[in-house]
Amino acid sequence: MRDRGTGTLTRAYREGWALGAFSTYTQEITQAICRAAEDAGRPVVVQAGASAFVHAGLEELAAQAVLAADRATVPVGVHLDHSRDLAQIEACLRAGYTSVMVDGSHLPFEDNVALTREAVALAAAHGAWVEGELGAVPGDEDVSQSTAAGELTDPARAAEFSARTGIDALAVAVGNVHGTAAGPTPLDLDRLAAIRAVVGVPLVLHGASGLPVPELHAARALGVAKVNVNTELRVAFLAALTESLPEVTPGADVARALGRAREGVQGVVRTKISALSDAVGAESARP
Ligand code: 13P
Repeated sequence: MRDRGTGTLTRAYREGWALGAFSTYTQEITQAICRAAEDAGRPVVVQAGASAFVHAGLEELAAQAVLAADRATVPVGVHLDHSRDLAQIEACLRAGYTSVMVDGSHLPFEDNVALTREAVALAAAHGAWVEGELGAVPGDEDVSQSTAAGELTDPARAAEFSARTGIDALAVAVGNVHGTAAGPTPLDLDRLAAIRAVVGVPLVLHGASGLPVPELHAARALGVAKVNVNTELRVAFLAALTESLPEVTPGADVARALGRAREGVQGVVRTKISALSDAVGAESARP
């Protein structure tokens, strides 16, 4: 079923687990995400777009994601990731998205506030929730390139940003990067704790591919209730596709090749959901 409203996100935040949010580019990846969630019996978020629209088309990718969410036996949110475009946000809300991320992190603070407030107003009219971003999570969202951590989120600014915009969730930059990193990128957990202490909404961790499970658990215990994963899914998709080639090439069996790729992604999503959803100790659960 499509997961409307902030109920699941709020529950994760209060109970000390995190909602896995996985990026899709194709129907097979969308299906893999939903099947893994059903297999785990856990809610999940399918992140359909924004950059994937260039390949798949907005209406096509959106329709697949909404249909898959509606048919799923567990709650599935349909989310727009990293959009800077209010018209695109509105198109996704009309298509039935349950949440959107408005990414004004590249803008001066006041402009980020203004853009994010507009997105919040749009989303409210459609019963959807909004994730904003303050600080810059570096790295390419679609192609993994060696990168280093960027400007980190300032706790006091984050508190002001969330209060003035009315966002439901805040993406933070605490040493996390999209894709692979030039070297180890330990999370700045002290900064995360300081942000959590002054920001009253669930936090979102982008760039979770490659992060060790203990770091995910530590983040989860410090207010991170949504964790974004993309690169590891792309790697699994391509690895499974490549492995299937000797077998499928003679018969040009595209369906079997894509099926293998789907299974590869499903396995990774299933593992991530497990790492994110097992309950943390009661001592770190939020009131
Ligand atoms: P990774 O590609 O590092 O998993 O990051 C995904 C992400 O943050 C999408 O917004």
